[in-house]
Formats: sequence, C-alpha cells, structure tokens
Amino acid sequence: MTSPLVLPSVETLVPYEGGKPIEELARELGVTSAIKLASNENPLGPSPKALEAARARIGELHLYPDGAAYRLREAIAAQHGIDMGEVIQGNGSNELLDLVVRTFARPEHHVVFAEPAFVVYRIAALSGGVPFTAVPTRDLTHDLEAMAAAVRPNTRVLFVANPNNPTGTHVGRSAVERLLREVPPEVVIVMDEAYIEYADAPDFPDSMQLRGLRERLLVTRTFSKIYGLAGLRVGYAVGPARLVDYMNRVRAPFNVSIVAQAAAVAALSDQEHLEKSRSHNLRERERLTRELTRLGVSVAPSQANFVLADVKRPARPIYDALLRKGVIVRPFGNLPTSLRITVGTSAENSRFLESLAEVLS
Ligand SMILES: Cc1ncc(COP(=O)(O)O)c(C=O)c1O
Repeated sequence: MTSPLVLPSVETLVPYEGGKPIEELARELGVTSAIKLASNENPLGPSPKALEAARARIGELHLYPDGAAYRLREAIAAQHGIDMGEVIQGNGSNELLDLVVRTFARPEHHVVFAEPAFVVYRIAALSGGVPFTAVPTRDLTHDLEAMAAAVRPNTRVLFVANPNNPTGTHVGRSAVERLLREVPPEVVIVMDEAYIEYADAPDFPDSMQLRGLRERLLVTRTFSKIYGLAGLRVGYAVGPARLVDYMNRVRAPFNVSIVAQAAAVAALSDQEHLEKSRSHNLRERERLTRELTRLGVSVAPSQANFVLADVKRPARPIYDALLRKGVIVRPFGNLPTSLRITVGTSAENSRFLESLAEVLS
C-alpha cells in the first residue's frame, strides 16, 4: 500500500469559494451588465492617490519588491504609533491568518474559532492538520465565553473576527477585554479586524488599544476592504516583535508586490477617501437594512460593509433567481436560509432591492 499523498484533513478540505465573478456569470448564463455584491469590496473603488502611486511603479515590474516592505511597515507603524518591528505585511490579511497557524501550531496542537465565521480559519487548521473546535455563534454573534471555555491545554491559536464575516455582527469591548485577560497566556489570540473601519457602534473595541492586556495578541487589518485594494492583495498584522519575528521566518519572501506596497502607502495617507467610503457605507447599510426589513427579511445587525439577510426560506433558489437578473450575492451552505449582500453603490443597492422584491413576490 502506498502512503497517503496528503494529510487526512486535507482530504476533507473544501476549497475556498469566493463570490461568483461577473465574467463567469456571463459565460455560464449569458447574463451581461451584472452587478456583484458578493465579495465585500469597496464600491467606490481605490483611492485616486493609490492609483497614482501604483501607476508610478508599473515600470519596475522586472524587479523584486522590497521583501521587508520597509516603507509600508513604516507608514503603518506611524499610523498606529508603534514600532516597525511590530508589523508584518501579508499578501492580503488572508496570508497572515494562515501564517499564524503555520508558525505557531502543529498537529499536536489545537485551534479555536467561531462557526459561522471567516472560513479561512478552518482552511488554515485543516491544511496544517491542526485539530480545531468551531464554537457555534449565539444570535449570529461570537460567543466569547464559550470560545474561552473551548480552549484546551494544547490550544495555540484562537481567532475572533470583529466584525464577523459572514454575519456582520460584533463583540463589544468588555467581552473582548475579558477574553484577552482570561485565555491562558500560551494562546495566540488573533483579532481579525478586516472591516473595523466600517464599525460605528459605541462599544466597538479597537484591539490596537488593548495590546497591553496580553502578550500573545495579533491584530490583523487589510487594504482589501475600505481601502479598496482587494485586487492588489495587501494586509498586515500587528503584534509583539517576538511573534512577528517568528512569522517572518516562515512567510514567503517578497510576499507583497512593488505596486501593492506603493499603493497601500498612498491609500493610508488618503483619509478623505476613507471618510467618503465610510459615510457612504453607513448610509447605504442602513438603507439596505431598512428596505430588506420592509420586504419581510431579517437582517443581522451589521458593523461591516455587508449585511446578512435571512429570507426565511431556502436561499439557494433566490440566489439563482437573482443571478438570472444579473445580481450576484453570496449564499452560504451553513446558513441555508440566508444571503450575504455587500453594500454597493446607491444604484447597485436599488437594483438589488428591486430584483429581490420581484423574486420574493
Ligand atoms: C473577516 C475577514 N478577514 C480577512 C479577510 C481577508 O481579506 P484579505 O486577504 O483580502 O485581506 C476577509 C476577506 O473577506 C474577511 O472577511
């Protein structure tokens, strides 16, 4: 008998499935002029400053990027008032979520995350053959007490997405503080704050401010959401220099491209674009929530740039019917009566709401 080609956990791994690309819909159903509200991208696009910076570096594509991403880490460190040695850049924050597990956990260890939450935590654990506990959310919100209770002596990583994806819900400051204080010190807690810039709840915690509560805390952020650079793949993690150093030993060299590094630095400096994106999202998120509720759909309270809508019947046929109308949203196998809708432009949101009203009637 030959030995297995892959780990048993890799055998069971279901590949990540993103939102359906517009071109794929055109190929499969012949639907043209579709809109995509499925991947939580910024409908206003990238900052003009980021575009200009990207264009300025396009002639240098024959060169490797700065493997240490010096200018980018310098800009991030300055923004947060921290040391550059506490920042690690990633090919999207996705790479860093995976890197945390690869760096700090082995198959004799254990990982904790919520269910439903961002599926990459599960993929990272499965690909490394690291056992995990997926702790059910309560009212679609991370149950931090239950997550703390799921920690075992061999737990090495615990992920919290705040706000969570795909639910959009959040956990408040006091619950996060308790978690950071009470979970045993050997566990690396990852606060995944990919959508934090969209949050407006008064009790929403900024984990950068809570770093004093425990040593093993990593905060991940991304340029893919409010900064509008999803296509360039840039994210970062902030944590103690010792943890960052270990992760740097394991990460791939040259993991963020020249163009991406330059664009991200410029995007950071464009607070005007950020504010515009934030206020657009707040306005349209509220409108989507209100109009969906009027259609009899339940909407989870969202702090992100998307809403999770429970249509109270099998969501798949509704997803398919919306596709035929050229509106791409996101279904989830583990939430069979719900659809996740990214906040689009005002016109896109109107088109989605009209299409959904037709499909539901
Ligand atoms: C909660 C959460 N974390 C991290 C990411 C990863 O984003 P990126 O790799 O583009 O930074 C996403 C993307 O959808 C997300 O929803």
